[in-house]
Amino acid sequence: MAPAMKVLKPGDTIGILGGGQLGRMLALAAARLGLKCQVFSPDPDSPAFDVVQNATCAEYADVEALELFANDCDVITYEFENVPAATALILDARRPVLPAQSILKTTQDRLVEKDFVTSLGIGTAGYASVSSVGELRDAVEKLGLPAVIKTRRFGYDGKGQAMIRPGDDLDQVWDDLGTKEAILEAFVPFEREVSVIAARGTDGSVECFDVTENEHRDHILKFSYAPARIPDALAAKAREIAEKIGTALGYVGTFAVELFVVPGKDGASLVVNEIAPRVHNSGHWTLDGASVSQFEQHIRAIAGWPLGKPVRLGQVTMTNLIGDDILDYPKWLTVPGATVHLYGKGSPRPGRKMGHVVEVKPEV
Ligand SMILES: Nc1ncnc2c1ncn2[C@@H]1O[C@H](COP(=O)(O)OP(=O)(O)O)[C@@H](O)[C@H]1O
Ligand SMILES: [Mg+2]
Repeated sequence: MAPAMKVLKPGDTIGILGGGQLGRMLALAAARLGLKCQVFSPDPDSPAFDVVQNATCAEYADVEALELFANDCDVITYEFENVPAATALILDARRPVLPAQSILKTTQDRLVEKDFVTSLGIGTAGYASVSSVGELRDAVEKLGLPAVIKTRRFGYDGKGQAMIRPGDDLDQVWDDLGTKEAILEAFVPFEREVSVIAARGTDGSVECFDVTENEHRDHILKFSYAPARIPDALAAKAREIAEKIGTALGYVGTFAVELFVVPGKDGASLVVNEIAPRVHNSGHWTLDGASVSQFEQHIRAIAGWPLGKPVRLGQVTMTNLIGDDILDYPKWLTVPGATVHLYGKGSPRPGRKMGHVVEVKPEV
């Protein structure tokens, strides 16, 4: 049983598992509130190490390092969803871990997650569990083509998934995926992709940011726009869906719900794509485009503090600097009104998230 949650005071220490840019921005938000962070990451080049005084560089399976880390922290959180269950359990025995370790079980597996969302009466793409090429054939028969085959676990930025089109060789598709645990999803003919970034406090209150519209390039988020260009009633529904999911999970912290907007005769409807149990790239606009950011909301939530009531400061565009895009940073520094965030990562490998820019324009 996890130790009881406590309300943090300025000067207390938050432990963050994971040392990427999300951990870095969480630590920066905590610092503004007078809280310290200790970052745990196996990678000595972790961008989050640069902004904290105390860091643990060790493997997630290193029990001794985890115990020492836990001793130094008042509460522990994570910046990525694939925290190994054993790691979370070791920490959970010593300090409160938020969001709760049990939530990871639901969100680490696309099949379990879709069953959960469906159980709440919320729409998803049609889906079927697939663990052999025979089951793939049956699923294709049931759901039709095109469809998307995905590994149940560890997929991100379009990795671990493939589109299947009529005429494709299913044996080949199955071999290429290289897993025995997959899910087939019917292709959703969406008109746009949106997300809701929400936070839920220890008191059960939920605050959602305005719905964000997202554009991907090569399966990686490239632009976010807030607010999304969807009718107000649909935006309200999207926020209701996020609130329902957060409440059903008993979630504490910031999370994201990715949704497809699907056109229809009677107007557009919403289908949930996936849940991210953490701060999310499509919420980076909130750093400069809202009165409180997704990172601060997460810190407030896990500190047991009241959530902020986010006010959007204008029409916001977030541009991700991916790979060589980072070479343009001097240009971005001269763009009027642009706020530049650089993650301090070394080499700009293709597809690597190196930074982002937020532009806020007056509401039209
Ligand atoms: N069932 C689907 N129908 C249509 N497009 C899809 C479907 N599933 C995924 N996609 C496209 O692929 C992208 C990545 O899929 P997603 O499930 O969000 O995985 P990731 O973990 O890589 O973000 C989505 O943002 C969307 O553009
Ligand atoms: Mg996604």
